[in-house]
Amino acid sequence: MDYKKFIEEQITHIKQTVGKAKAINALSGGVDSSLVTMLGHRALGDRLRTVFVDSALMREGEPQRVAEIFADLGITVELIDAREEFLSALAGLTDPEEKRQAVTDTFYSKLFSRLVKQSGATFLLHGTILTDIEETVAGIKRQHNILAQLGIDTEAAYGYSVIEPLKTLRKDDVRKVAKLLELPPEISQRIPFPGPALATRIVGEVTPERLETVRTATTIVEEELADSGAFQYLAVLLNDRATGIRDNKRQFGQIIVLRCIESIDARTATVTQLPWEKLNRICQRIIQIEGVNRCLYDLTPKPPATIEYI
Ligand code: XMP
Repeated sequence: MDYKKFIEEQITHIKQTVGKAKAINALSGGVDSSLVTMLGHRALGDRLRTVFVDSALMREGEPQRVAEIFADLGITVELIDAREEFLSALAGLTDPEEKRQAVTDTFYSKLFSRLVKQSGATFLLHGTILTDIEETVAGIKRQHNILAQLGIDTEAAYGYSVIEPLKTLRKDDVRKVAKLLELPPEISQRIPFPGPALATRIVGEVTPERLETVRTATTIVEEELADSGAFQYLAVLLNDRATGIRDNKRQFGQIIVLRCIESIDARTATVTQLPWEKLNRICQRIIQIEGVNRCLYDLTPKPPATIEYI
């Protein structure tokens, strides 16, 4: 694939489609939305408004760090505090698809419709990639960023048209193009992180307390496995509890699952053979988190498992 030609074609396409109108895009800091941000700003400059939605579901310090990285690239990212909105939409939900749906609805129908109206934008630039489309169309999973492919008319439903410059690329291509556009390795090599964010790593209800637990576990896992070379690594909070002993007292504690996988494009995955010392060290750190008394390593490949837990 000719990546330089791809970049030129997409910039031209965005310019022609948007014309003199305004566009908006949501940046999460993942490689897909970051690449769209770069292409969009090359094409439209200030006519593209880039927002980072703080959904309360992001990793530790992520909103500020992402804004900082893009400020260094000369791109202004607006932080939108939508924590309360997402938490109340997710409150009481335990079904995986209902949780995903709640994130999608809050993001697109509520928040984005509002932002788009406020800013007068008529186009939304979107980081959908080929794998997202394939898995959604195949009915494997409703990726939260798939709309048109499911027959949703975004113009009628939400009041804006969607442009998806990356819809012919897989993840490995996205990384190569991102590197070509001089996005720093922190972005171009960033491990995948799902759109519904930490909500995909909490089995059962998403609450501020449970988010805090999985967020702390995520920080530990990402620190410990940063040099592992693995495709993706994550922490999951289960809905079950298990008996344990803490300070000579019986404790019915939380269970964290560690997942670390090898993959090319996330369609299939195998489990990384992490050294025993590493696993032990991670376990020792995870069980220091308040209320957590077990840490498990998930040995299941994809398929039959998926990478995330919802
Ligand atoms: P699964 O769990 O389906 O994940 O094996 C495959 C890859 O996709 C990521 N993922 C998502 N990415 N929106 C995204 O942008 C989503 O809704 C979503 N769900 C999963 C996941 O992290 C893995 O890399």
